[in-house]
Amino acid sequence: MKRTYYNLIFILAFLFLANPANSQTYGQNGMVVSDHYLASEVGVEILKKGGNAIDAAVATAFALAVTHPEAGNIGGGGFIVFHKENGEVTTFDFREKAPLAASPTMFLDENGRIKDNSNHQGLLSVGVPGTVAGLYQAHQKYGKLSWSELVKPSVELAKKGFTMSWGLYRAALRMTDRDPSEDIMQNFFKGDDGEVVKPGNTWKQPALAKTLKEIQKHGRDGFYKGWVAEEIEAYMKANGGIITQEDLAKYEAVERNPVTTTFNEFEIFSMPPPSSGGVALIEMMNLMEAADISSVEFNSTAYVHLVAEAMRRAFADRAEFLGDPDFNPEMPVGKLTSKEFAKTRFENLDLSKASVSDSSKYGQLYGGDHTTHFSVVDKEGNAISMTYTLENSYGVKMGSSKLGFIFNNEMGDFNPIPGVTTSTGLIGSNPNLVAPEKRMLSSMTPTIVSKDGKPYLIIGSPGGRTIINTVFQTVLNVLAYDMRIDRAIEAMKIHHQWLPDRIIYEHNLLSPDTRKALEKMGHNLRPTTNLGVLMGITYDPELGTWVGAADSSSEDGGARGY
Ligand code: GLY
Repeated sequence: MKRTYYNLIFILAFLFLANPANSQTYGQNGMVVSDHYLASEVGVEILKKGGNAIDAAVATAFALAVTHPEAGNIGGGGFIVFHKENGEVTTFDFREKAPLAASPTMFLDENGRIKDNSNHQGLLSVGVPGTVAGLYQAHQKYGKLSWSELVKPSVELAKKGFTMSWGLYRAALRMTDRDPSEDIMQNFFKGDDGEVVKPGNTWKQPALAKTLKEIQKHGRDGFYKGWVAEEIEAYMKANGGIITQEDLAKYEAVERNPVTTTFNEFEIFSMPPPSSGGVALIEMMNLMEAADISSVEFNSTAYVHLVAEAMRRAFADRAEFLGDPDFNPEMPVGKLTSKEFAKTRFENLDLSKASVSDSSKYGQLYGGDHTTHFSVVDKEGNAISMTYTLENSYGVKMGSSKLGFIFNNEMGDFNPIPGVTTSTGLIGSNPNLVAPEKRMLSSMTPTIVSKDGKPYLIIGSPGGRTIINTVFQTVLNVLAYDMRIDRAIEAMKIHHQWLPDRIIYEHNLLSPDTRKALEKMGHNLRPTTNLGVLMGITYDPELGTWVGAADSSSEDGGARGY
């Protein structure tokens, strides 16, 4: 008996070591992979109840607004790419909009300089939130279960609370000692005793529970009308913001066609403008196909050079051409995503030498690095790739304590100074200047790859402008290098964004010899610890099952299948 017991312990220990956290999770009937395991569990429970991928995505998104408040939100915006089981693909754009009182020079002082970092800090930086409208619209059109059933788990999570993790506690400590004017953060993570809730203890959000309850009862109107909208306007007025009840009432999410291309036998679908992510991803995948990347060894000097040169070109095009399609009807999206264009874009590529980014043209792009992505698939094969954000971690770090949620600071994604583009930081091109009711350009890249009309890879990431490149490389790792999903997510990533003209690389994952060889070619390299927090699902045709993986850099992330 004793021997059997020891054998069991040994087997369990072996299994634990052989299956480290954040490797692969299997699910024959469906899967949710998100930045918080509780939100993934909420989504899977909805699938088990007979909900489809849209239902699970709505429930997961609301749950992340409770469990992952640095980026999960009802005060921000985002995008859904939806691959239906019949092979059709559509998208929902619920990107924030500039308020009616916004103008192209709203952030500038009398000398034409940005005043007090006001495009990133304070309530002028808040865009009209889109998340609730987007989720509601997607549910109205494609959901199966009732709206109330989908919002209920997040009401419960906020009301009854959930266990404070070490990851969340770390953020709580950083956020609590802030400027007292940023009222919501002062008490955000505190319990009834006025102390920050310790790891292992239950953290409750009663004000958020009340707001979510209103949304549960009244749908979209629970946020954009009634007492929630009144309180948003009152809070804005009292603290220097310009969003009004009229802005809220006028907000509409938009269903749009995806941008798409093929890569070998695969079809790739991603988010069109106002996200730049899909266009840039597709331009780079087309470039990789033209360069026959599969024949180039992964992580070699030639690989990093080719990938970085593709990024340089795609980001230059992003800066020059992309913005809100409703304000830029002439945007050349078709051209930028065509295979012919990709061929011309590599014409001046020198395989032995780095190109030079032209600093007289387009420059650094914006984007906070705290966004969150999740991927969902249901048993019929409907798939959702959803990325949403508050822009920076905890957005603008302001909000009404009566409402319990934090506002975004997404206005910082607009070009702040008309006509001023510099090599060190700014873009002033027209497509992405501020205008009333305009959506700011995004880098979010929720993506679905299909094979024979069925979802094959569902992927996305946070990371500001690095999102585009981490999603691009993960797609490439799966499609061109045949990596399994967890390895594709963890594999070495680089980031180049045209200007500043440099490659950022994950320093423990690129060999020093390769770095030196790249420097000899004229590349400028900078190390970083991590790029991307990817959440992905693939289909394993041999096993006939879904395989999910959450990036190991997500403190509380988790893949849940059933
Ligand atoms: N806020 C990050 C992005 O939309 O790109």
